[in-house]
Amino acid sequence: MKRSIIAGIGKYVPSNVVTNKDLLKYMDTSDEWIQERTGIKERRYAHRTEETTTTMGVEAAKIAIERAGITPQDIDFIIFATLSPDYYFPGCGVLLQRAMKMKEIGALDVRNQCSGFVYALTVADQFIKTGMYKNILVVGAEKHSFGLDFSTRGRNVSVIFGDGAGAVVLQPTEDANRGILSNHLHSDGESAEILAMFNPGTHANHWMPEQYASFDKAEIGQMFFSHAMIDEAQVFPNMDGPAVFKKAVVKFPEVIMEALTANNLQTTDLNLLIPHQANLRIAQFVQQKLKLTDDQVYNNIQQYGNTTAASVPIALCEAWEKGKIKEGDLVCLAAFGSGFTWASSLMRW
Ligand code: UT7
Repeated sequence: MKRSIIAGIGKYVPSNVVTNKDLLKYMDTSDEWIQERTGIKERRYAHRTEETTTTMGVEAAKIAIERAGITPQDIDFIIFATLSPDYYFPGCGVLLQRAMKMKEIGALDVRNQCSGFVYALTVADQFIKTGMYKNILVVGAEKHSFGLDFSTRGRNVSVIFGDGAGAVVLQPTEDANRGILSNHLHSDGESAEILAMFNPGTHANHWMPEQYASFDKAEIGQMFFSHAMIDEAQVFPNMDGPAVFKKAVVKFPEVIMEALTANNLQTTDLNLLIPHQANLRIAQFVQQKLKLTDDQVYNNIQQYGNTTAASVPIALCEAWEKGKIKEGDLVCLAAFGSGFTWASSLMRW
């Protein structure tokens, strides 16, 4: 069976740098607190009106496609991972297809939050292995800045997140020594609400105001936003940070070891681990637990914050651009986040 290789990779981050100090304008926080608890020094925020999740994805995709030596018209499938789409529907995949003037190819959106890119890559890998597609564009992009609670109430979440995009082109290879070796996907919905944004969503028993409801309210529930929902932070991401942290430091090492064990490899064989950039403390804990050297782990959360579905491809791209990944290197991508969902991909570059 064919293997999939990353034939091209690109990233895009907005030019607007927001430091920890900049956030003091909006909330009661400090540079010391943010750096000590998360490692983050600054993040990027997209332009309020001119940049969207899709436009950032397009910029990253252009680079990935060019580096793969192909054109947008050669792409035969799009997988777009995001939790912050331009529209509630349709998804960003079709918006990217339109913006890049691609053929009438399939476009799939993946909503798996922090592990979204690794899930999307795994889906792409299956299509390549079966021979169904030859050039799949996989994008992870987020515009978090549009929907965070910038009051002190939301500071545990808002200081962490940043905007950006990463993309890869996945292609088949006949080279038995290269490509994705295995993928490992997991979920546990037991704690779905401890890292969640509840609205808009069909869960809500919020009634439409009288003047808009043309039916018996007892029969049909309709989604709408009220001031009370904003007052109760129901329209912002909510997170029990310590609970997420505790689970992350268990599941990250587990899913990395699962990938290595499945391929009869050890941590010492690993050239580079790209962990989802959730919190530098989590990445350091994982490094320590797996006894990895500094050279074996790549982190850039200090500059970009947590960009959710974009964090793994942005970090992978940056590491590659810095010459930290060479052909034949054993690279592991690993992610954990809301859901909970977690995942890893192990590959020979
Ligand atoms: O990528 C998705 C997955 N997400 C994660 O993996 C995140 C995992 N969790 C974390 O990274 C950490 O839990 C946080 C960075 C979110 C929070 O750090 P923490 O050390 O767990 O802090 P905490 O939530 O336990 O809060 C400790 C204190 C509280 O004050 P009191 O109650 O001790 O007086 C918070 O109110 O820190 C306060 N606090 C802040 N203070 C200044 C919370 N956020 C801030 C802030 N600035 N931004």
